[in-house]
Amino acid sequence: MSRFLDQKLQTLEPYTPGEQPRDMGKLIKLNTNESPFPPAPGVLDILTRGQSADLRLYPDMNCTALRAAIGAFYGVEPQRVFAGNGSDDVLAFCFHGFCPNGAAFADITYGFYPVFAQMFGVQETIVPLRADFSIDPQDYAGIKSTVFIANPNAPTGLCLVPGQIEALCRQNPDRLVIVDEAYVDFGGETVVGLTEKYDNLLVVQTFSKSRQLAGGRLGFAIGAKALIDDLNAMKFAFNPYSINRLTLLAGQAAMEDRAYFDKTRGQICENRAFAREKLIQMGFSVTDSRANFLFARAPGLSGGAYYKALRDRGILVRWFDRDRIRDYVRITVGTREQMETLIEETAQILRQR
Ligand SMILES: Cc1ncc(COP(=O)(O)O)c(C=O)c1O
Repeated sequence: MSRFLDQKLQTLEPYTPGEQPRDMGKLIKLNTNESPFPPAPGVLDILTRGQSADLRLYPDMNCTALRAAIGAFYGVEPQRVFAGNGSDDVLAFCFHGFCPNGAAFADITYGFYPVFAQMFGVQETIVPLRADFSIDPQDYAGIKSTVFIANPNAPTGLCLVPGQIEALCRQNPDRLVIVDEAYVDFGGETVVGLTEKYDNLLVVQTFSKSRQLAGGRLGFAIGAKALIDDLNAMKFAFNPYSINRLTLLAGQAAMEDRAYFDKTRGQICENRAFAREKLIQMGFSVTDSRANFLFARAPGLSGGAYYKALRDRGILVRWFDRDRIRDYVRITVGTREQMETLIEETAQILRQR
């Protein structure tokens, strides 16, 4: 640490992202919930059609075409859509600007929330999940802080239904509810439709999981126009050009290709069901995940031991060395072939226990 760092950042504990191996070799990478499929064909066209020549020019800071494409997909006016450099960027603005009374979130949820809270000096209220890892909206009833709900939650994959999100919005109309729908396209139900009715609801989504653009860095939010105006004000006060030209085009093309989106997310759901069933047959305890990952506890093997055994066999999954979830690993759902390899290797690991 340098002697120049502001005192309030000296205890900052940065987010620990999942391992991103430089040399993939034969590794099967099931640790950061990316899509195993390539981006939609239209996206690849853009990257090869010479559009990159325009890179000498700044990008459209209003993200006009992209916001129109997102708006058309969800049936909302583009003025109610905000785009950011990954949904982490959007969430950072939310913590920075929308939490004057602090932020409330679950004890087990996306690990970036407490980091953002610390980074922006936001008071946090931690609301424990129930014993079965579910979220009970009633637990948030008396809380005045801005509520962050990952739905489906990470790393459990469990979902709230729209009626439960609506209950959170109704509990206190003067409290903002931010629903992080990073994984919603794999079996959850989006609450974008509710943003028309509730001006205290903001939905955040990403192109990283169901739209194959984790490397492009693109996320968005949908909410009341006033909330979107606030997000734009923050973005224009920080980095108006935060989304580069190629990503703007790629995001638009990905959003417009509904058939590819449906096909690929359908395959993930099938592969998830296949792998979940096999793991359960082998004695695993597996949550009913509606995300592109499984959250699983091995029989008679600690989470850390199972993670290391898979690592030794070239399969990278995510293990969180944290209270309540130490016995589990989070496995990104990949291709059918990758899931078959995971199951075969797991069977061998269990035999050698
Ligand atoms: C729940 C949740 N929200 C947001 C993100 C951030 O996604 P990105 O910044 O790639 O859009 C992630 C990434 O894994 C996530 O798990």
